[in-house]
Amino acid sequence: MYTSVPEQIHLSLGANPTEMMVTFTTFRKSDDSLVAFRELSEHEFRVSQSRVTYFRDKKYKAFIHRAKLTGLTPGATYEYKCKTDGQYSDSFSFKVHTPDTPLKVAIYGDLGLKNGVSTPKLKNDVQKGLYDTIFHIGDIAYNLNSDDGSIGDDFMNHIESIAANVPYQVCAGNHEKKRNFTHYLNRFSMIDSRSGQMNNHYYSQDMGFAHFIFFSSEHYFYPKYFTESHIKWQYEWLENDLREANKPHNRAKRPWIITLAHRPMYCVENNERDCFENESFLRRGRSGDDLDRESNYGLEDLFYRHGVDIQFYGHKHLYERSYPLYNLKSSKRTDIYTNPKAPIHITTGVAGTTNRPNSDIEEILPDWVAFYSRDYGYTRMNVQNKTHLLFEQYSAENDKIVDHFVVSKDKQNFPRD
Ligand SMILES: [Fe+2]
Repeated sequence: MYTSVPEQIHLSLGANPTEMMVTFTTFRKSDDSLVAFRELSEHEFRVSQSRVTYFRDKKYKAFIHRAKLTGLTPGATYEYKCKTDGQYSDSFSFKVHTPDTPLKVAIYGDLGLKNGVSTPKLKNDVQKGLYDTIFHIGDIAYNLNSDDGSIGDDFMNHIESIAANVPYQVCAGNHEKKRNFTHYLNRFSMIDSRSGQMNNHYYSQDMGFAHFIFFSSEHYFYPKYFTESHIKWQYEWLENDLREANKPHNRAKRPWIITLAHRPMYCVENNERDCFENESFLRRGRSGDDLDRESNYGLEDLFYRHGVDIQFYGHKHLYERSYPLYNLKSSKRTDIYTNPKAPIHITTGVAGTTNRPNSDIEEILPDWVAFYSRDYGYTRMNVQNKTHLLFEQYSAENDKIVDHFVVSKDKQNFPRD
């Protein structure tokens, strides 16, 4: 086990389309760590040295290697391998997405090592080149820290043929919380493209015709780890990021603003603690004693005002799609997804876990629910152009598409009145 052979290799987006991060793990310290890469048409390999950090969590000890590949050409395909102490990993390859072209993404939350129903399907899809990137929006491995970290190691090795070949973007879920999210923070390398800095809790990325904002719903749930200041800093970061994305030249280039986090603002099951008893911390903000009631940092208003188009969440072990929705209200006119008047919420937390919700959802369906499915699977999104987003929900257990819909707009939705 204690070797310096690179394992758990995975990619994540860099600060711009000419960069890509490679992250991998070894269990022995090595003085020489690098990633060798070349464009498929090139003969010579280029080399990027890794930065190595020691990660220890109780009995778990590992070395995390991070290499930034630079000077990449959009549209080109690269081959790469990781090397430590003279030992090379297998070769992997990735294609750099070209700005201003359609972008295909697989999106899901809640994928474990055990009962990871979607994993073999995702491997096939990636092999066929179906995606430019994948978003795993929290609850990863169940859990990264379990069995002294071996569940996390096994999971990351298990998905290597996925995550080493397309950028694997993540955000934190409740299952990442152990010891202040330490495995989550140490194992991944999420780069915020505006600042160029790594921040696994919240960051944004531009890809194709969309601006993607990944943030932490978990800030609202663990006062032990996140004080009012942490919630405020994330809120202010979100507000600034949205303001920047809405500057006319930015919004003209990337008209779609899509947010992603783990816990939803709305749930089909209305007996759920996250959504109703607490009146959704995320939607209205925290109003506990530890926070000022005047500024609860609720996100529904912020996202509505700044013209967010789509909000993706996981956590609930089902797939649900809303009508355009704001302040508990939705409207159901027939062309509802054309120039929508409010954000559309999609919960896709059913990639593969050991439990699913019970079957009495039908009796308590809220008005805003357009569709839901309990099938294990994941969401595919095609950011086709500046006016059309195409969605489908793939059932991994029944190998069929269980939902598809199109969102289109030909006028801008910022500012919303
Ligand atoms: Fe969760």
